[in-house]
Parts: sequence; C-alpha cells; structure tokens
Amino acid sequence: MAHAGPDFYDDDAVFATYQGRRQRPDSPNDTMEKPVIVQLIGEVAGKHVLDLGCGDAAIGRDLLQRGAASYLGVEGSHKMAALARQTLAGTPGQVVMQTIEAWTAPAAAFDLTVSRLVFHYVADLTPVFAAVFRSLAGGGKFVFSVEHPVITSCNRGWPAGTRRQDWVVDDYFSTGERVTSWMGGTVKKYHRTVEDYFRLLRDAGFEVEALREACPQRNRFDDPQTYERRKRIPLFLVLAARKAPCKESDMASSPTHDNASNFPSGIGKPALRALDAAGYTRLEQLANVREADLGKLHGMGPKSIGLLHDALAAQGLAFADDTSVS
Ligand SMILES: C[S@@+](CC[C@H](N)C(=O)[O-])C[C@H]1O[C@@H](n2cnc3c(N)ncnc32)[C@H](O)[C@@H]1O
Repeated sequence: MAHAGPDFYDDDAVFATYQGRRQRPDSPNDTMEKPVIVQLIGEVAGKHVLDLGCGDAAIGRDLLQRGAASYLGVEGSHKMAALARQTLAGTPGQVVMQTIEAWTAPAAAFDLTVSRLVFHYVADLTPVFAAVFRSLAGGGKFVFSVEHPVITSCNRGWPAGTRRQDWVVDDYFSTGERVTSWMGGTVKKYHRTVEDYFRLLRDAGFEVEALREACPQRNRFDDPQTYERRKRIPLFLVLAARKAPCKESDMASSPTHDNASNFPSGIGKPALRALDAAGYTRLEQLANVREADLGKLHGMGPKSIGLLHDALAAQGLAFADDTSVS
C-alpha cells in the first residue's frame, strides 16, 4: 500500500534507510540542496523562522546558532518529530507534531518560512501557500525545495532497489499523484511542473525572487565520479519568494518590530505587562513555561491564562505542565 509522506517516514525500515542515506558524506541534500537553501535564506539574525516538514530539524539548530530569534518546526511523522525534539533539546526551538495541511498558522508571526523536500508529498498546495503568506510578516521570505519535476514526472526504467542508470522524463504535463517505490517502501508523491510551482507562489501573493536547480559544484564532492553522475540530471528545484513589505502604518504588527508579540487579543494590559516583565514576547515561548508558574506572575489572571492556553493549542502547542497533550 502506498503511504502518505508522514506515514512513509514512520515506517521503521524507511526511517532507518533515510537516516543512513542522509548521513552519507556525499548525500545530495548536503552537497547540492542545502548550500542553495542556505544561500537563499541569507541573514537570519533576529528572525522568527518556521520550517514546514522539518524532519530532524538539524537546520533549525543551525539557524538558532546563527542568531535566529525563534524556530518552529512542523512535522507530520512521529519518528521525525521525536528526532527533531532531540536535535533541538537545550535550544529555544519548538516542534509541532502535525501535518502541514492540518496545522493552523498564526498570522504575521514569522520572518522566514523554509521547507525542504516536503511539498511533493502534499496533494494541494494552494491552501498551504496561502497559509504561509498569511503567517509571514511584511517583507518576510519563503524558501523551499522540492524534488525536481523532471524526477517526479515518471519512474519508468528504474527497477526498485537498483541504482538508477538512466532517467525517463515523461507525462510531464500530466500532473498529480505518482506512486513510487523508494527506500524500501511505497510512497505517494505529487508531480507538478516548474511552471506550477511558480504560478502557485504568484497566486498566493508572493513576488518570486529566485529559481535554482542546485547545479553541483565540483569543490563539494570528494569523489569525481559522484560529481559526474550528479551533473546528469537536476535532482532539486529551489524557489525563493517574498511577501511585499508592510506599509509604515502596519509595522507595529511585524515580528521584527522591537515590541513585537503575537499574544491573542483579549488579554488584559496587566497580563501583557506581566508577560513583558518576565521576558515573554512571543506566544511560542510559553510552551516552555508551566501554567502554574505563569499563574504566579503579578497581573496574570485565569481569563488571560485561558486565552493563552487556547492560542497555544491552535498552534499545536501547550504549556509545559499540560498533560492533556503528548
Ligand atoms: C525528505 S524529508 C525532509 C526533512 C527535512 N525537511 C530535511 O530536509 O531534512 C520529508 C519530511 O517531510 C515530512 N512530511 C511529508 N509530508 C508532510 C506533511 N503533509 N505534513 C508534515 N510533514 C510532512 C516527512 O515526515 C519528512 O520528515
């Protein structure tokens, strides 16, 4: 049976094979895809980052080390989400275990949304891109990679379990579901054309800033044969897009603004002052805090705690001592 993306990665054998491949020194993700992603992301200091389909969240740890103000990974696989939590232990990074499609993105809460090699598992990207647009602050950036459409178009000529010798590109304009045997399992992917990804971004309101195909660079490969092989066909498509900057009058709601906060409306001024005095400026920070401790802040009443509880739950988060979620 063909699995959807998150279930596929929860399969024991697939998970082990995937982890093994990602750790290889010549992994195409590390030699070709990641360098382009990092280049397009650019400066991250002070930025609030969302990562859709974060996998092990290794990039989250890197971005926090490079000065990102916050990192939130959304991940649909239990195994991957658990690994991501391990990776982020001891950092302010957070993980929500939920599918991208089901997760409710908070409005204007992020400066950068990244998603690496996930969207070809998602059947309908229109609502996903609309949610990304809504959840970015004005001027915010959206950078993502997918398997290149020449790869997702067709699987013919590649017996399962063998090394691919030649690539067939066929049925290119017949977009939609593709069932693929890969890494010892069977998974559903969704083929789109290059033009589809470009149009989806424009339709969501983004300005497209860059389109890259992760051309291999000789200096990243120890093995010349691997380099020659990687020059044969593009494996990745990477796009960067931007939400137009807000007008001056909108700046107060930007997360990059000094007094930025995304606490829900309805919270009283005394509670907001109490949060501010305790150093809490973002809702996500409260997922590290026990409700019992929050209640001890001067000015914090049960109504405000209830609103914060509901706002956290809407993001798939909870207070640190909330035992109703795992
Ligand atoms: C190829 S891995 C990439 C992981 C990570 N982004 C990276 O580059 O290291 C794809 C990831 O997307 C996740 N994924 C696939 N479809 C998803 C969905 N609809 N919602 C949330 N996560 C999803 C999978 O569970 C898996 O962890």
